Amino acid sequence: MKIAFELNGTPVEVETDPANMALSVLRGECGITSVRGTCGIGLCGTCTMIVDGKTTASCLMPVGALAGRRVETVDVLNEDDPVIDAFIEANAVQCGFCIPAMVLTVRKLLEDNPKPTDDEIDMALAGNICRCGCYAKIRDAVHLAAAKGNPA
Ligand code: FES
Ligand code: FES
Repeated sequence: MKIAFELNGTPVEVETDPANMALSVLRGECGITSVRGTCGIGLCGTCTMIVDGKTTASCLMPVGALAGRRVETVDVLNEDDPVIDAFIEANAVQCGFCIPAMVLTVRKLLEDNPKPTDDEIDMALAGNICRCGCYAKIRDAVHLAAAKGNPA
């Protein structure tokens, strides 16, 4: 079955079983490797995508549910996005495995709440696990990105 949706601003159409999970279709059919499968049960956040403005676990959503919707991954950001700069400046990256989903989630947080408190940051990132334990530096990065402001 053909499933059409918007991916990072571009219309796409994939031929697949609608019951396949969005995670495997985004990676396998669409070449979006920044969404990463780890737990497969909605607990770790490495597979995060944004669907119609809402952060969503791509390991739990059948791709058929994306039909006609707007999907974004970290690839939608420009390389000079303040959130990316802030993660680098704050030295918030070790192995990097969690980082695409972290950056995407932080970008969404700052769009909704440009100056989050520590508690608000912790709440927003509660669904994103960093197995390297970079949480303190990631929080620093969020404050740094907030100080830089949203891109125009
Ligand atoms: S792989 Fe989707 S939440 Fe862990
Ligand atoms: S930087 Fe390694 S999992 Fe987060």
